[in-house]
Amino acid sequence: MTGIDTLLHEERVIQATETFKDNANYSDESLYIEAKTDRLGFWANRAKDLQWVKNWDQVLDWQRPNAKWFVGGQLNASTNCLDVHLETRKNKTAIIWEGELGEVKTYTYEDLHHQVCKLANTLKTQFNIQKGDRITLYMPMIPELAISVLACARIGAIHSVVFGGFSADSLQNRIQDSESKLLITADGGYRRGKIVPLKQIVDEAIAVGCPTLKSVIVVSHIGEESNTTLLKGRDFDYHTVIKESSDSCAPEPMDSEDPLFILYTSGTTGKPKGIVHTTGGYLTHAKYSTKAVFDLKEDDIYWCTADIGWITGHTYLVYGPLANGATVLMYEGTPDYPDKNRFWDIIERHKVSIFYTAPTAIRAFMKWGDDHINQHDISSLRLLGTVGEPINPEAWMWYYEVIGGSRCPVVDTWWQTETGGIMLSNLPAINPMKPGSAGLPLPGIEAKVLNPDGSDVTVGGGLLSITEPWPSMLRGVWGDPGRFNSTYWKKFDTYYAGDGATIDPDGYYMVLGRVDDVLNVAGHRIGTMEVESTLVEFPGVAEAAVVGMPDEIKGQAIVGFVILKESFEPNDQTKAELCEFVAKKIGAIARPKKIVFTPDLPKTRSGKIMRRILKNIAEGKEIGDTTTLASPEIVTLLQERF
Ligand code: PRX
Repeated sequence: MTGIDTLLHEERVIQATETFKDNANYSDESLYIEAKTDRLGFWANRAKDLQWVKNWDQVLDWQRPNAKWFVGGQLNASTNCLDVHLETRKNKTAIIWEGELGEVKTYTYEDLHHQVCKLANTLKTQFNIQKGDRITLYMPMIPELAISVLACARIGAIHSVVFGGFSADSLQNRIQDSESKLLITADGGYRRGKIVPLKQIVDEAIAVGCPTLKSVIVVSHIGEESNTTLLKGRDFDYHTVIKESSDSCAPEPMDSEDPLFILYTSGTTGKPKGIVHTTGGYLTHAKYSTKAVFDLKEDDIYWCTADIGWITGHTYLVYGPLANGATVLMYEGTPDYPDKNRFWDIIERHKVSIFYTAPTAIRAFMKWGDDHINQHDISSLRLLGTVGEPINPEAWMWYYEVIGGSRCPVVDTWWQTETGGIMLSNLPAINPMKPGSAGLPLPGIEAKVLNPDGSDVTVGGGLLSITEPWPSMLRGVWGDPGRFNSTYWKKFDTYYAGDGATIDPDGYYMVLGRVDDVLNVAGHRIGTMEVESTLVEFPGVAEAAVVGMPDEIKGQAIVGFVILKESFEPNDQTKAELCEFVAKKIGAIARPKKIVFTPDLPKTRSGKIMRRILKNIAEGKEIGDTTTLASPEIVTLLQERF
């Protein structure tokens, strides 16, 4: 089933150490067997690991593409992350937080419970937040962000976390799309020693227009230096408003299918999609996958470096580990501040045992050199994980050998905002590792590689699809059921992931990356259309086309091919202004790496831009057939200018 026998003849196959296997949570194939024998029964058993207020009547109601899991069941996500631990883990550290400036705060499960209850009561009684209301969280990586997420869950408000690197426009779009009533932010956050003025960005977003937003709660994190002003009647200081609130708050019983959160992600149009996740199924998968994939144990110090603004932070920094009663490390800043050894210093001081990060970070560490690592004792590590983009075997081997000391298994986990939790990954003590390959579907998950016509690829390349419903699957796109259908369910009968992948004779999947018009820059999804529509907003731009180019560190980088209006100079200053404009309009993650000015774009005779040709130019590949182009000579010019 896991292909161990056939794997042994493969060249680069790496096994976990015997010590790791002997101590692992799952060291035999029982989970695989249980899931294959009775998939729904398997998921019901995982759901039983949660505390339910009311048991479900039916495990799954599947009316393609609409799934309901644990139908009729009731539970509360914050109860399952906090209250369930109060008897046995009251004094256990839940969160170790380290600020970029070096300060450390710890919260026991009891502390966290108190803080969550205080905020939950505040939201209910002072701001009249009710079940189903949306709350946007636009915050730095401070404990109050995790607390806010859980406080929303406690009272049944739907949280929409917007990554603190997004611009005022991006924030405004997301506040309005979700029709949030309240927003929680901070006066600012630290990033590489600089202050990110979050509250000022919030003010700008509100100035653009957020009619549904009634109140803003502001955490004072930076203090005076941030020059933050609070608008009377609209803005409130976080610690002042929670001060008098009770630290006990009865959790709202939530239907298993009640929404838990919305999280926006880029798609193939200019408008981001609000991916909706519900309560029972999401939490079931979050809890199970954290324990199984990361081999999480009672005494682990678990560090996921993702920001809570992304799905990885939701599932594997907040919900998954806390549902398992883990000690979670949360770090505010960047890996190179004040020095490039910051992560290894953190691992040494806090004795981190599980470390989950992205290939972009791994490639940067590799480039910075081993000296930064050798200054530190990182032998507390026992398992490593990677997520967000394909990892090249060279970076994988470096991670395994230099960071993991050839002793820590590496789990390469493939999943998406839409899948809510890990879909493809080895179980570290069971399946041998192949550098660059995510491995097998998790027990309970059924996947396939398909040909464009929907037929199966048994060995080879094609399009990745998840072929059976799973508990943490997205339940829709907020306010846009049509988009949910057309994006994920039109191409095949089964869920279409938008990724290309290969499957080998052992059933191992290697995910190659997006096949749609979505880029993956440093593990972050950015729609080419989003960047294009921003570029054409710039006064001098007549037309623009955006594609990805390979980037040694970030995996992909953004290239804009731009036609300027006649009165504008195609010089370096205009290029710099354009890049700055995109960063300001969307956020720094969308800043183009390269702008190529051109008098024309490769188009078909009917005027459609041939992106394939631009992609090939950016990737330095053969151009292919240009006979259908209106003016084929433009290709040579673009190649020269690139
Ligand atoms: O292209 C795949 C890539 O990231 C996309 C999902 O992005 P997002 O929704 O932002 O979630 C990222 C974190 C779960 C996927 O469609 N991706 C994610 N993990 C991997 C990956 N590509 C290759 N290998 C992975 N392990």
